[in-house]
Formats: sequence, C-alpha cells, structure tokens
Amino acid sequence: IKGGTPLRGEVQVSGAKNAAVAIIPATILAGGPCLLENIPDISDVYTLYDMLSLMGATVRVVSRTSVFIDTSNITSHKVPEDLARQLRASYYFLGALLGRCNEANVPLPGGCDFGVRPIDQHIKGFEALGANVNIGHGSVSISTDGLLGSHIYFDVVSVGATINVMLAVVKAKGLTVLENVAKEPHIVDLANFLNSMGADVRGAGTEVIKIRGVSEMHGCTYSIIPDQIEAGTYMVAAAATGGDVVIDNVIPKHLESISNKLEDCGVTVIEGDESVRIISEGGRPRACRVKTSPHPGFPTDMQPQFATLLTICDGNSTVVEDVWDNRFKYIDQLRRMGANIMVNGDTALITGVETLTSAPVEADDLRAGAAMVIAGLIAKGETSIGNIKLIDRGYENIVEKLTAVGADISRVTFDED
Ligand code: EPZ
Repeated sequence: IKGGTPLRGEVQVSGAKNAAVAIIPATILAGGPCLLENIPDISDVYTLYDMLSLMGATVRVVSRTSVFIDTSNITSHKVPEDLARQLRASYYFLGALLGRCNEANVPLPGGCDFGVRPIDQHIKGFEALGANVNIGHGSVSISTDGLLGSHIYFDVVSVGATINVMLAVVKAKGLTVLENVAKEPHIVDLANFLNSMGADVRGAGTEVIKIRGVSEMHGCTYSIIPDQIEAGTYMVAAAATGGDVVIDNVIPKHLESISNKLEDCGVTVIEGDESVRIISEGGRPRACRVKTSPHPGFPTDMQPQFATLLTICDGNSTVVEDVWDNRFKYIDQLRRMGANIMVNGDTALITGVETLTSAPVEADDLRAGAAMVIAGLIAKGETSIGNIKLIDRGYENIVEKLTAVGADISRVTFDED
C-alpha cells in the first residue's frame, strides 16, 4: 500500500461473514434444497462448502454471491478434522447435526487467537436439552435419544453459544426459552433463515429467544444481510484518510455504535436508506473513548480498526476491550508504524500522532489484518502486509474495493526466499 491519499467514491458492502458462516451449516436442518443469496465471496465460506460436500451434501456455486445447497443426502455426522481447524464457525455443525441427526462429532474449532476461547456455554445448552457431550482426543462428540425443550440461562453473552443452541433446538420437542442471549444482527438473520425453513423462533434481537420445536423443516431461498463489520471497516478507512466515501448496501441501524463513535471524533456521518456517507475533510479527527461490548454496544470486531484511526487523532484516546481477554496483539505492529500506544490490562491508551510511517507488518488475525490495511492507507510511503490470507477469510475483494475509491494498493506474491 502506498498511503496518504484520501479515499473518495463509493464502496459496495458484501453479505455478512458471521451470518453466512452460521446459515451455511444451518442448511443441514432443511434436509432439502436451499438457495442462499448475497453470500460473501470469502475463503471461510468455501471452507464450509468443502465440509458440507465431504459430508455428502450437494453444493453448487450458482454465481459469485449465490449458492445452491441440498443437504437431503448427508451421510456423515462427522466433520473433517483439517477443515474444521481452519475456522471457528465449524462448531456450528455441532448444533446443526445434533438438531437433524441426534448425533455430531466435530473437532475442537480453530479461528482467530484472542486468548482462551471456551465453549462451556454451548455445552451447558446442549446438556440442558438432554444431550450427552464428550470431549476427548481433540473432538466434541454429542448424542441424544431425542432433545427436549428447556429453559436455559447463559452465564455469559455468547454469539456462538446462542447460535449453536438455536440450531440444536429448532426440531426438539416442546418449548425452549433462551435467556441472556446475544443480540447481534447475525443472530436475527439466522432466526429469519430458520423461520423461512419452517422453524418457530421468536424474540431474536432481544434478551430472550423462544423456540417451539417443529417436526418438519424444508428448504428455502434466503438473502443474507450486509456485513456490519466490513461496512464499519470502510467507514473507519474513509475517516482515517480524511476522505469522503459512500458505503452502500448497508443497514444503517446496524452501524449506529460505529457511526456514533466516528461522530464523537468529529467525523460527519450521513445516513441514507441503505448507505452511510463518511466525510472527514476538516483536519485530524478528535480523540475519544471506546469500550467494546456485545450488540448493541461497540463491536469487538471493530476494535483494531478503530484503534488504528485513534492513533492519528488529536489528543489522548482510550480503548477498553471488554469481550476478549487478549485482543491487543496487533498493537506491536502499529507501534512499528509510529503509533504511540500503552497497553494496561484490558485498556489501550493511545496518544495521537500527526501521521503513521510506513513499515513491513503482519496480519495477526482477520480484523488485525484489516487494521494494518487502514494503517497502510494512512502512512505515506510503502507499507507491506504479510499473511494476508487471514484478511481474505473475511473481506471480499478488499484490494479491488479500495482501489475503486482511490487507494494505491495491490496484492503481490513473493517467493519464499
Ligand atoms: C463470534 O465469536 C464471532 N465469530 C467473532 O468474530 C466475534 O469477535 C465474537 O462473536 C464476539 O462478537 C463468529 O461469529 C464466527 P462469543 P464467538 O462466544 O461466537 C466468552 C471476527 O473477527 N465465552 O460471543 O466465538 C468468550 O471467551 C470474529 O469476525 C465463554 O466464556 O464469540 C468471550 O469472552 C472473530 N464461554 C465472550 O464469551 C463460551 O462458551 C464472547 O464470545 C463461549 C464464549
């Protein structure tokens, strides 16, 4: 990236990664043909297609953004090990297979490294429904003679546990009440998808979800919501480069916590029906205070990108990470680019500098990689980012999208030497 140029123009946001990675395994519950639209063209999605295919499903990519999946002939309730380790969302096969086949065997999942990532709340939920859970030899095995509806209170608000238990329970006997659930937009999207397949899920997006088990489900056509975090990443990139960018194909309501923080920094945010325009042309933005929390709070998946903006804001900012216990690893990379950041436990203290300086850096994980891209767009000179396959896990055509708004960015391959 040769940075220092304000971004201008329009960016189209793709379908939501974290909705897609739940909805693709959820097709198992249909036991029939599904057509999924507005799917993001990212590597995590293709890994899930490979898993479904190896389990006996028919997966046909219809276009760059749509896929036909027929899970009627699934022959295995076991998820292939090497693929499962590539992404966190492979654990959604636990809930989906349990819900359909009363049996599941899934290797303990991989995914971004933010410290300890327990799955105790998933297991608490499965057991409350009457499943036997065994963890051993690097896998989770679950079986049941038949799940029964239950009342489950989650001890922590967990996106993954909420989704996994929703998947398991849609065909269970009776009523299930889930309390202290996650309220992220992709929870609501999954509930809408399950209902389109014949499920009876109510209350998604609030503190309590009620699910009445149904005996039959069927395939459907469904279009996935736009990606809140991809949109937020381009909003912050526009702000950080002093640009003027319309981010299109979004649900502005999903972006409110990000828009509010940008406004705290003095950036102009203009909401349209399906777009937000970011204007940041009046010099350095102001410092501010950010604390991550589950939706509708400020998303942890925007923390590294926003912290990167704050490195060049005028004044002292604080970023409190309240969801993950170790999501500041990328800060070492930002320091290499001249950022002034001190980390104290869950808080990063950022003293704004005039600008960043270019350097060779690495993508530590998906969103940390996106943060490095924003840092490279800010810094004058040439920044190279290594390990970009992690960015490709979650951002469709990031090079092309940024080029279209004036960034000088290209994808290069070096030989190993
Ligand atoms: C999802 O991860 C997302 N991944 C993450 O996005 C995101 O950071 C996270 O939710 C929080 O929003 C996907 O949707 C695939 P959690 P998940 O369960 O479900 C604790 C990205 O960049 N916890 O909501 O794994 C946990 O330790 C990715 O796109 C338990 O204690 O997150 C954490 O502190 C990375 N026990 C908190 O809850 C459990 O059983 C939230 O985790 C489960 C979680």
